[in-house]
Amino acid sequence: MGQGRWLILVIIACLLSLSCGGELRVKRKHNNKDIDQLSVYNHTLATILVEYASAVYISDLTELFTWTCSRCDGVTSGFEIIDLIVDIQHCLQGFVGVAKDLNAIVIAFRGTQEHSIQNWVEDLYWKQLDLSYPGMPGAMVHHGFYSAYHNTTVRPGVLNAIKRAKEYFGELDIMVTGHSMGGAMAAFCGIDLVVNHEAKNVEVLTFGQPRIGNAVFSSYYCELVPNAIRVTNDHDIVPHLPPYFHHFPQKTYHHFPREVWLYNIGVGSLVYKVEKICDGSGEDPNCSRSVLGNSIADHLVYFGAKMMCESWRSCPLMMDSRLRDYGTTDLKGNFILSRHLPSSVLKLNTEVGAAAGNNQA
Ligand SMILES: *[C@@H]1O[C@H](CO)[C@@H](O)[C@H](O)[C@H]1NC(C)=O
Ligand SMILES: *[C@@H]1O[C@H](CO)[C@@H](O)[C@H](O)[C@H]1NC(C)=O
Ligand SMILES: *[C@@H]1O[C@H](CO)[C@@H](O)[C@H](O)[C@H]1NC(C)=O
Repeated sequence: MGQGRWLILVIIACLLSLSCGGELRVKRKHNNKDIDQLSVYNHTLATILVEYASAVYISDLTELFTWTCSRCDGVTSGFEIIDLIVDIQHCLQGFVGVAKDLNAIVIAFRGTQEHSIQNWVEDLYWKQLDLSYPGMPGAMVHHGFYSAYHNTTVRPGVLNAIKRAKEYFGELDIMVTGHSMGGAMAAFCGIDLVVNHEAKNVEVLTFGQPRIGNAVFSSYYCELVPNAIRVTNDHDIVPHLPPYFHHFPQKTYHHFPREVWLYNIGVGSLVYKVEKICDGSGEDPNCSRSVLGNSIADHLVYFGAKMMCESWRSCPLMMDSRLRDYGTTDLKGNFILSRHLPSSVLKLNTEVGAAAGNNQA
């Protein structure tokens, strides 16, 4: 029997007794590390992954694919992109690659690229819990967020890239990240990998993520992906949406744990940045819920990294024609740029930078 099945049984037992915010812990060895130990928030890791979540917004695909963009240096330098996925139809973008220093596959999803973030945020108020999450009785999620990952070219692209990365690099941890709607997609990707692909050591770390499901979904999430962190920033409006209705626990959206809330204290020139590690409920009243979510500005910068495109245009794309050699395009115009493994990224850089005209696959 697969480990996944076994886990589901444990979870059902768990749901019947206590919520994930309680004391019950599923004891399971993960690569010789205990889950409890794994799920600790790691500030350094968050400040690295935020750079990936920021870079995926870059619209110059040449710079992104060769990892030479302005947001691609510093703590993420040396990253090797495996696949860059561009779903033109739904205006989505994501990448899968290998960060050797983290010994991990990093998957990042871009947030929404609507004409106006204000409109997108206003729409968030009205999102319905309109889809039952498959195989999880009582778990409801938002169809739109779910589909952005599950019903586009994104999911097959991601799964294929993971498979190829593992064939070439061997077993690696998986870290999934994203900002805003990209955070919602990252969350769905993380649980998909655990439930449907028996992935081990999956870590989900999102920034400014909206709510994606109800309390039952949140409990499943917490047991299946214990190593999930949602970073929220001060008065960022998006983590407050779609709304949480405290008095309707059965009906409302409910965040999965664990939130880490960034905020400032102090007056005048004496300002301290605080990182608050919130409780296991997902809806800690003393974290971002303790303030008004009234800021879009707080949504667009995390740990000093810009979480948006260089400009707000719908699906802007720039691509060197020489990159076509690396791409496969479907009938709808969606495409995936793939590294030919095994080939070093250095070779790729020279090819694209200088003499990419010659086909040397
Ligand atoms: C936190 O993450 C960094 C980067 O992956 C790693 O080097 C460090 O060992 C981690 N710290 C802990 C306490 O796990
Ligand atoms: C997936 O998308 C197609 C069209 O793109 C649609 O017809 C279908 O109903 C969608 N399925 C789900 C489960 O959302
Ligand atoms: C957390 O919030 C509750 C009520 O919302 C309050 O009673 C409690 O004092 C708070 N705890 C801390 C440590 O701030």
